[in-house]
Amino acid sequence: MQVSNAVKINSMDELAKIQDKSLFRTQAYVDGQWVNSASGKTFEVKDPATLHKIGDVTDMHIEDVQKAVEAASRAFVSWKTTTAKQRSVLLRKWYDLIMDNSKDLARLMTLEGGKPLAEATGEVAYGASFIEWFGEEAKRAYGDVIPSPMKGTRMVVMKQPVGVVGIVTPYNFPNAMITRKAGAALAAGCTVVIRPAHETPFSALALCELADRAGIPHGVLNVVPCSSEHTSDVGKELTTNPTIRKVSFTGSTSVGKLLSGQAAGTMKKVSMELGGNAPFIVFEDADIDVAAEQLIFCKFRNSGQTCVCANRVYVHESVYDEFVAKFTDLVKKHLCVGHGLSEGVNFGPLLTERGMKKIEDQLKRAVDAGARAVLGGKRPESISMDGYFFEPTVLVNVSDDVPMSCEETFGPLCPIFRFSSEEEVVSRANDVTVGLAGYFFTRDIGRVFRVAEALEVGMVGVNTGSISSEVVPFGGVKESGIGREGSRYGIDEYLNMKTFNISL
Ligand code: SIN
Repeated sequence: MQVSNAVKINSMDELAKIQDKSLFRTQAYVDGQWVNSASGKTFEVKDPATLHKIGDVTDMHIEDVQKAVEAASRAFVSWKTTTAKQRSVLLRKWYDLIMDNSKDLARLMTLEGGKPLAEATGEVAYGASFIEWFGEEAKRAYGDVIPSPMKGTRMVVMKQPVGVVGIVTPYNFPNAMITRKAGAALAAGCTVVIRPAHETPFSALALCELADRAGIPHGVLNVVPCSSEHTSDVGKELTTNPTIRKVSFTGSTSVGKLLSGQAAGTMKKVSMELGGNAPFIVFEDADIDVAAEQLIFCKFRNSGQTCVCANRVYVHESVYDEFVAKFTDLVKKHLCVGHGLSEGVNFGPLLTERGMKKIEDQLKRAVDAGARAVLGGKRPESISMDGYFFEPTVLVNVSDDVPMSCEETFGPLCPIFRFSSEEEVVSRANDVTVGLAGYFFTRDIGRVFRVAEALEVGMVGVNTGSISSEVVPFGGVKESGIGREGSRYGIDEYLNMKTFNISL
């Protein structure tokens, strides 16, 4: 693993390199206007690599959110009556503008989110793909005509938008988690009020600027950034305000449970995309080189801060030593730690101090119980920036009952466990309360089906560490959540079915 300190980064100078300055917004976007919070208060956003301030953003609170919900409710009256084709055309324009401005959007994302520039550019395209996809799906939100069991009657099912949607998104995908929800909602004919993560509001606000230019009508899309101090009040408003008919959240299981509980008071429809703890299993017949390569992306993408990333790696005892050696070698050669805007860097900082503390704690508890780091295990000594850097870390001899083995890590720790049989590893893989993604590597076709069916998860990667795309359903089972995003199913989360029973 290399460390890049080659270029001294000043975050404000880097921000000034954005070509289109009007993409950098610090006010909220409500009813098509850029507005400040009623209190006039702001909060600071920092570059997690340098800890330099990159801007002060208006700090919305309950009364500001209520105004946004009223605007969304007014806009819903006309937006729901637009044709699918009209919505599709607007979403396509938005998609084109996002792609045309992807360089600036990626730079902003790297500055506020630490994600290396190439990866941030990839996220912008991934995020845009949901707008394009759902723009097309708007035209395919078909209903049904059902053969009636009663003479002289006709039975019809129509799909209608649920109404105003409250959306709460995380810091790890500041663009794509917004577009995956808002794209589907707008396509369905819903209007939205979005609370982006307080660490990464700029990507959300830049998306609003482009939606405005695309001609998305005022009030259809609203973004209400708020500080960590206001997060729970704003979340409560979005989940309890009776005008809001649906809540969509991506984040931790504990917050998902809280928000679902709050939303139950007014019986809102909910989509919850929550925490994971993905097993990554390498069977004895796997292509070890492919598995090791895929694990790099699957574990260390976004510095391990993805909810589908490999959390527990299980390798068959007969290939264990070979795999650990190959993987460790690849990590050393392939990963370069530094500021995401520096040439060659593909591994940035963690985004938050609490994320850093969590992995330090998990690591200490694993090491105290006998684990050994064969690579990494600390902040890189030679890094010259003050941010939340931690080395990509590979661990062996980790016991099954330390937090690292049972809880989501959300950081660059990679514990590698031994197993001896298919039955044993499937049982260990399933022995957690969550079930978002799982991965395994084998060349045995029978095992492919057996294990894919047996894993208690919503998404499985077989001989690949990559599962995400706008065309397939994304979501989990058990405590990983409720509902599916993306794919032809994603729009249904924003539609109600209405039955018409017609006597002729
Ligand atoms: C997530 O980590 O929440 C999303 C990951 C993805 O869409 O691939």
